[in-house]
Amino acid sequence: MKTQVLDAAAANAIARAVEILRGGDPVALPTETVYGLAADALNVDAVLKIFEAKERPRFDPLIVHLPERDWLERLTTGSETQLVRQLLDRFWPGPLTLVLPRRSIVPDVVTAGLETVAVRMSAHPVFAQIARELGSPLAAPSANRFGCISPTEAKHVVSELTGRIPLVIDGGATTHGLESTIVAPRNGALYVLRHGPITAEELAEFAEVKTTRLGERIEAPGQLPSHYAPRTPLTVTNDICNVLQQGKRVGVLNFVSLSPRRDLREAAANLFRRLRELDQEGYDLIVAEEFPEEGLGVAIMDRLRRAAAR
Ligand code: TXA
Ligand code: MG
Repeated sequence: MKTQVLDAAAANAIARAVEILRGGDPVALPTETVYGLAADALNVDAVLKIFEAKERPRFDPLIVHLPERDWLERLTTGSETQLVRQLLDRFWPGPLTLVLPRRSIVPDVVTAGLETVAVRMSAHPVFAQIARELGSPLAAPSANRFGCISPTEAKHVVSELTGRIPLVIDGGATTHGLESTIVAPRNGALYVLRHGPITAEELAEFAEVKTTRLGERIEAPGQLPSHYAPRTPLTVTNDICNVLQQGKRVGVLNFVSLSPRRDLREAAANLFRRLRELDQEGYDLIVAEEFPEEGLGVAIMDRLRRAAAR
């Protein structure tokens, strides 16, 4: 299969994407977090093609992206609580994914048989327009091969999935550069299943926040200890000098190289791109500096620790 890349601004880009999605094939699309590999969530055969292209194990459920907020009641139950309403008003459309009990309209293959479904609404204008024109929810995991680094530019998608999907829509580099925050509201509390652009501090304004740590019970398989893995071994340290003295060829990933003004948002937006570059530069080892574990730093450290685990 030949993979076509269309600039999002090209006259036929949106229509072509909708046409392919309607025909039951997947398309890689930009979102505000990372690029997603989207397919019609209500079409089982289309969803299966996502798993195939990514070599993703079928036990790993997908996030469903809604064309409009009113789809929430059609796909889930339990969205009518005040807490969920407040979260939607504040964070949707945007990088917050909610895990809620699902209705039977959601195919088993999407949720890997779970009784819950993960839903979000993308704020990316291109993604949002395509979803609206299709008029159906879109299942979309990150557009990388399973276990690899999430793509933040169209060319990353091409390097991961070329020949496996018909179309990539190029919307430039993504804004956040990290996957959405995944939250399960339960008994009035918010369980963070994956840290992301919406921080625990922001969520704590709405309810008690509970987080799971690396190695604890796996609820979101994105929570597998080893994930986002470069091929080059990676270590996270607060003593880069010590590692440099060991005589290895070392690529350094530190805060200032990702953001000269030491801004966590900017560092997060550049993290995966830089990690990909370092991975291609042929080092014996990538050494990542520890980031301050507050705000977005929590999500950055989470990704680095998983990239280091093997
Ligand atoms: O920002 C994002 O969320 C991107 C863009 C494309 O939207 N998507 C993304 O999808 O990161 P993916 O498949 O790479 O990660 C989805 C994560 C997986 O770790 C999956 O296990 C978890 O969401 N997940 C999906 N459904 C779930 C459910 N019902 N309960 C718990 N975790 C779930
Ligand atoms: Mg992923």
